[in-house]
Amino acid sequence: TAIHRADYVAPAYWIDTVDLSFDLDPTKTRVLNKMTLRRNPDVAAQALRLDGEELNLARVLVNGQGTSFKMDGNQLVLENLPEGTEPFSLEIFTTTCPAKNTKLMGLYVSNDSFFTQCEAEGFRRITYFLDRPDVMAMYTVTLRADKAKYPVLLSNGNLVEHGDLDEGRHFAKWVDPHKKPAYLFALVAGQLVAREQRITARNGKEHLLQVYVRPGDLDKTEHAMNSLMASVAWDEARFGLPLDLERFMIVATSDFNMGAMENKGLNIFNTKYVLANQATATDVDYANIESVVGHEYFHNWTGNRITCRDWFQLSLKEGLTVFRDQEFSQDLCADPSARAVKRIEDVRVLRTAQFPEDAGPMAHPVRPDSYIEISNFYTVTIYEKGAEVVRMMQTLTSRAGFAKGMTLYFERFDGQAVTCDDFAQAIADANPGSALANLLPQFKRWYSQAGTPRVGARGTYDAEAQTYTLHFTQSCAPTSGQPSKQPYVIPILLGLVGGTSGQTLALHAQDGPGEAYSNYLFVVSEESASITFTHIQEEPVPSILRGFSAPVVLDFEYTDAQLLTLLANDPDPFNRWEAGQRLALRSAIKQIAAHADPAGAGGLNDAYIAAMRSVLRHPTLDAAFKELVLTLPSETYIAEQLDVVDPQRIHTVREAMRLQLATALQVDWEWAYEAHHDNGAYSPDPLSSGRRALAGMALTYLCLAAVQSGDAVWPGKVLQRFKDASNMTDRFNALSALVGSGHALAVPALARFHAMFKDEALVLDKWFALQAGAPDRGGQILPAVRQLLTHADFSIRNPNRARSVIFSYCSANPGGFHRPDAAGYVFWADRVMELDSINPQVAARLARALDRWKKLADPYRNAAREALARVAAKADLSNDVREVVDRALAD
Ligand code: ARG
Ligand code: ZN
Repeated sequence: TAIHRADYVAPAYWIDTVDLSFDLDPTKTRVLNKMTLRRNPDVAAQALRLDGEELNLARVLVNGQGTSFKMDGNQLVLENLPEGTEPFSLEIFTTTCPAKNTKLMGLYVSNDSFFTQCEAEGFRRITYFLDRPDVMAMYTVTLRADKAKYPVLLSNGNLVEHGDLDEGRHFAKWVDPHKKPAYLFALVAGQLVAREQRITARNGKEHLLQVYVRPGDLDKTEHAMNSLMASVAWDEARFGLPLDLERFMIVATSDFNMGAMENKGLNIFNTKYVLANQATATDVDYANIESVVGHEYFHNWTGNRITCRDWFQLSLKEGLTVFRDQEFSQDLCADPSARAVKRIEDVRVLRTAQFPEDAGPMAHPVRPDSYIEISNFYTVTIYEKGAEVVRMMQTLTSRAGFAKGMTLYFERFDGQAVTCDDFAQAIADANPGSALANLLPQFKRWYSQAGTPRVGARGTYDAEAQTYTLHFTQSCAPTSGQPSKQPYVIPILLGLVGGTSGQTLALHAQDGPGEAYSNYLFVVSEESASITFTHIQEEPVPSILRGFSAPVVLDFEYTDAQLLTLLANDPDPFNRWEAGQRLALRSAIKQIAAHADPAGAGGLNDAYIAAMRSVLRHPTLDAAFKELVLTLPSETYIAEQLDVVDPQRIHTVREAMRLQLATALQVDWEWAYEAHHDNGAYSPDPLSSGRRALAGMALTYLCLAAVQSGDAVWPGKVLQRFKDASNMTDRFNALSALVGSGHALAVPALARFHAMFKDEALVLDKWFALQAGAPDRGGQILPAVRQLLTHADFSIRNPNRARSVIFSYCSANPGGFHRPDAAGYVFWADRVMELDSINPQVAARLARALDRWKKLADPYRNAAREALARVAAKADLSNDVREVVDRALAD
């Protein structure tokens, strides 16, 4: 049954303190929960209803006395509680079985250690509680366990006592000095070792930073620790937010549903986002670790100090914190080009994952109005679109203005559970007179309306008057439950590039201030609007939506020549990249629509090829940017532009385009490889990782060209490169080049790679993912994937491993997955159902692989519907999967 935002009511009771004692045992852990509660005087007197799930209840005492209680579904109901608003104590004793907890929510066992995951509603799997974020309490936690098996005992806050007990057991007592909602509770127990770092903050306070891992992984913790230190320094420098704890711990586990979790003072991470050394992790892994460590650390203020009133406000903490981690990663870049690269990467995620979500059956506003299972709403809309909404607020108030807004937000709400409205109001109030303050109610439609707005733009040049006018319109397609949308506030950062000169033109807005700008922020808040610039001496090419200043689709009928002008001259790196993407997309769509055999010529015209050559050979552009420009739009992104999708045709067309780039630029790729492959000692900084990325791309294209021509030189060289590589980035890029080209040398290379890294779980994940995600040539991928499932190293219970095979195939390999014989969908349905009985959260993510089935051409469409219907018909489906497939099948 659905839960609605409009139904929010404050809790009938407050829980002020919680004293938890755990006797940890994998098969039967005992939990004694002693709370102090009081009635909330603002709410009518009523029974206390505590959430609980899969718990064995042994005892309930109120003020030390036995009491009557009843069960109502999963809730423990206490009706005879003391009257009045005086505090009373409630003691609940339960047991659970962490070893059987395959959902990885609540308390579970991974590699013989105990971990918890409580967000969003996992605490109720540990004890009976008011498991909602607006109930904030002070926690004291005592952990008892076998000392030999579980030498390390951790919980939130400060360690106040520890010592030995009888029978080889020991204990540790932790007190968290900050009150917190239950979803931020954590405990960890096991054989772990820590890298430690003491730091002194600006105010002279000392802090202990620790990164806990399994023994043997300590040599992979340096980068995480460096990222944590950089995060602490950044939040203090940029937002004046210091670390508020004596001790800050990160613990890595290899069994984790998501990326990481910001439990107060005790962040728990998927190993994927902690462990790295140059032999086992790629540049991308290094960058991800930096941003996830930052993200969880930044939650300490945005999420923990100020939390969400209810889960509909999830983007209050997630959108804001993603924005903060994006800014952090950008600020760590020494040069502006690297900042732009990061922005392009972030936008690419938004457009290939969030735009489809916004147009599909799971479309929801950044602040949803209802949900069935909250776990399904940890989405790219809440996170990435939410971050764009925060970014627009910064654009509308300036960087300094936004920082002032953050300060006001903390002045007003520190220690409270609040709403997205509260946040937006604080940013606006700190910036009176700003476009945000002036348009706040309209601006907040970004929170309430689902769907991606489209902005249409058209330019008219008056040569005689030397004026150029841009006309804008906006619209947004209906989404489920929202048939018509109101206009959004859309900040459009723009510039003009001389159509003949290629020069940046000075911008004098007709009704604006006298000053000239090279960038102009035009805020569209009506269905249509226009702006005129004067003193424009040549017909310009407009560069609209610079830096992707709003999460919209921009429709402007550029000519090829105009796009080539922008690609060569736009000083805004985002739009320069975008011009290349538009050109490639245009060729792809033309080829897809053509009646000709799509497997024939690539369809990229000479001008495009020449432009790509100039970018590749450009003397000053940096390698990371070149690599982005030379990457064709993904199959998913191409599919989003079409009303009817034939995935095989898209795949064939894009593969032909790749082959064309490979052969037409072969000598350039040879040059690019030679010029970029030697990076000296390994460092994951943006500059050298950009060079590695471009060298790796060169190898990919050289292998493709070699397979086409039958030439053996480059594949041989790539194999050698694979063997000799001194870091995982180069090694994996060489391996991917061989596997991606389908060359026979891929087979021994894969075998060698497996033998080299058989004890490195995260590297094996790459090995599995590479094979499951490889380009399909004649339908060989699905049988290969089925084979991988029987591999001794495969386990469907480990989320990382399941994702590396099953998701890499179903969600990241459209050419392999969408088979005319429907076998891909049959495989998908079987895996969704298999996973659902183990881990519904992971299953529900997989279920979303068919979100866009209605756009598919037949025979895919019908086959996809049948597969969805087969899953929907399963009797004992989880709420998680049920919500996803029911929404997919609804019309
Ligand atoms: N708050 C975490 C983060 O974004 C995500 C945890 C979500 N976990 C879950 N099981 N839904 O950093
Ligand atoms: Zn987060």
